[in-house]
Amino acid sequence: MSQTFIDAIRRRRTQYALGREIPLSNDDTNALIREAVRQAPSSFNSQSSRVVILWGAQSVRFWEITKDALRKIVPADAFASTEEKIDSFAAGAGTVLFYEDQNVVKGLQEQFPLYADNFPVWSEHSTGMAQFAVWTALANAEIGASLQHYNPLPDEAAAAEWDLPAHWTLRAQMPFGAHAGDIGDKTFMDDAERFRIFG
Ligand SMILES: Cc1cc2nc3c(=O)[nH]c(=O)nc-3n(C[C@H](O)[C@H](O)[C@H](O)COP(=O)(O)O)c2cc1C
Repeated sequence: MSQTFIDAIRRRRTQYALGREIPLSNDDTNALIREAVRQAPSSFNSQSSRVVILWGAQSVRFWEITKDALRKIVPADAFASTEEKIDSFAAGAGTVLFYEDQNVVKGLQEQFPLYADNFPVWSEHSTGMAQFAVWTALANAEIGASLQHYNPLPDEAAAAEWDLPAHWTLRAQMPFGAHAGDIGDKTFMDDAERFRIFG
């Protein structure tokens, strides 16, 4: 494990303050996200992750859909802070939506009944791997991002808006953009509580 890799993963942090102008072209960013997802591992190399990249007005539309869904469940007097948060995601350059293809999961369960209970779990692991890879790749291109979980609220409307298959399940949303603010320090728990090394 090279120091360069550790430096790269250290650069990935949660950035909530996003702006529109990122240092990469849309095409280069699309290619970066694609390659990060392609190279992320998945159980049995099933490649169950699906990704939707929304730019500009399309990303704003996604956050509008989410806001509309939230408006139905968040008490009116608490909605202003919710709206502010959602608007901060929409202020970025775009949003990556991470899906898992449930047809792939079902197919694996049929093909390998012995592991049937594990495939849904491994699908969740796989999307996490893809998310981490994309987040780290963006960070190393000087693009800020955070990881959000408004699913299942926007799922149905988003599927209709972008004509996505019903068997794709939304697992996470990653708004990204220019770094438009500082990122706070991160605290770490005691290594002695986390790691046990023998031999
Ligand atoms: C599985 C997972 C779920 C997360 N869900 C959210 C979320 O819904 N909203 C959010 O703002 N951050 C979310 N985060 C980001 C974490 O809060 C963040 O990574 C953590 O506080 C460490 O900060 P860092 O990202 O700057 O290293 C999530 C992170 C992980 C790994």
